[in-house]
Amino acid sequence: MNFKKSVLSSFETYLPERVVTNDDISKFVDTTHEWIFERTGIERRHLVEKNQYTHDIAVKSALKTLKSEGIGPLEIDAIIIATATSEKRCPSTSALVQGIIGASNAFAFDIQAACSGFIYALTVADSFIKSGIAKKILLISTETLSLFTDWSDRSTCILFGDGAGSCIVKENDDDDDCGIIATKLYADGTKPNLITIENSEKNNNHGHLTMQGRAVFKYAIEYMYKSMIEILEENCTTFDDIDWIIPHQANRRILESMSKMKGVPFEKIAITINEHANTSSASIPLVIDTYIKSGKIKKGDKLLLSAIGAGLVYGSALIKL
Ligand code: COA
Repeated sequence: MNFKKSVLSSFETYLPERVVTNDDISKFVDTTHEWIFERTGIERRHLVEKNQYTHDIAVKSALKTLKSEGIGPLEIDAIIIATATSEKRCPSTSALVQGIIGASNAFAFDIQAACSGFIYALTVADSFIKSGIAKKILLISTETLSLFTDWSDRSTCILFGDGAGSCIVKENDDDDDCGIIATKLYADGTKPNLITIENSEKNNNHGHLTMQGRAVFKYAIEYMYKSMIEILEENCTTFDDIDWIIPHQANRRILESMSKMKGVPFEKIAITINEHANTSSASIPLVIDTYIKSGKIKKGDKLLLSAIGAGLVYGSALIKL
């Protein structure tokens, strides 16, 4: 058994080329750019093209991660994909990706933890590294919520975007204290109807996402804060020790309210919802990659990740990059 930390490297992303602005949406539902921007902070989102699916965008992000890491697909021994929007019930998205990129030494499976998927998948990857089950894991979050959206429902269709983000999780061979410090997962399955995507044959809703927005807003603040404060306390850390808070990007107002109500330092909260909208499990790697590429997040920074999603399932992670 080894007790070295798992480190994260080679964050990359793929965003579909099609950009849809709030004004574009106002052409087919009764809404305005001002309403969407004021209530959510969203200005635009990337959406997949026709015949572009969850595994396609995952492959594009994965190939960029392999290139950044300077390794070939055969050096990967596990692919873990977080997604709530698989193209097929089976095979899994990760099996499709494994075949396409030629990672034939890797086992592969999906994790479905809705918008918390990246933190759930990170926890599993960390356990695999620590237990020696895998040495180099390709972790991908990939989502195409636009394919599960009712484009005539103005209360939900404004919120979501598509995208994929990926990184490598591996044993820390360097003589430093970088890596995953802790993760903490929670579930409250007593509220299954707050956000739902039914199977297409059920309830005649064609597999579209439905949501009780106000209630989700309230739980997002309470539960994300609870999971952040508990992981900080358990690791003898405070917000002062954190360089960046990386929350799931559901709504800018959720983050502003969490800051006002709970005292979470707003200047440390990383935000990209204006550019990406809510991309479910892909939102956290999209933020991390964007902030690394723009020089805001640097090697050695301490990050506090937090997310909540349908279930409700939620959790946090503490990382030294
Ligand atoms: N454009 C214009 N008006 C809209 C609208 C839109 N796109 N969507 C809803 N409205 C209207 C409603 O019909 C309602 O009108 P009424 O007062 O005449 O009935 C009014 O705006 C207020 O609706 P409400 O749903 O109470 O607004 P809100 O302030 O709660 O904002 C959300 C709605 C969806 C933006 C907000 O609840 C939210 O972001 N919730 C969290 C969602 C989320 O994060 N989900 C994912 C979690 S992982």
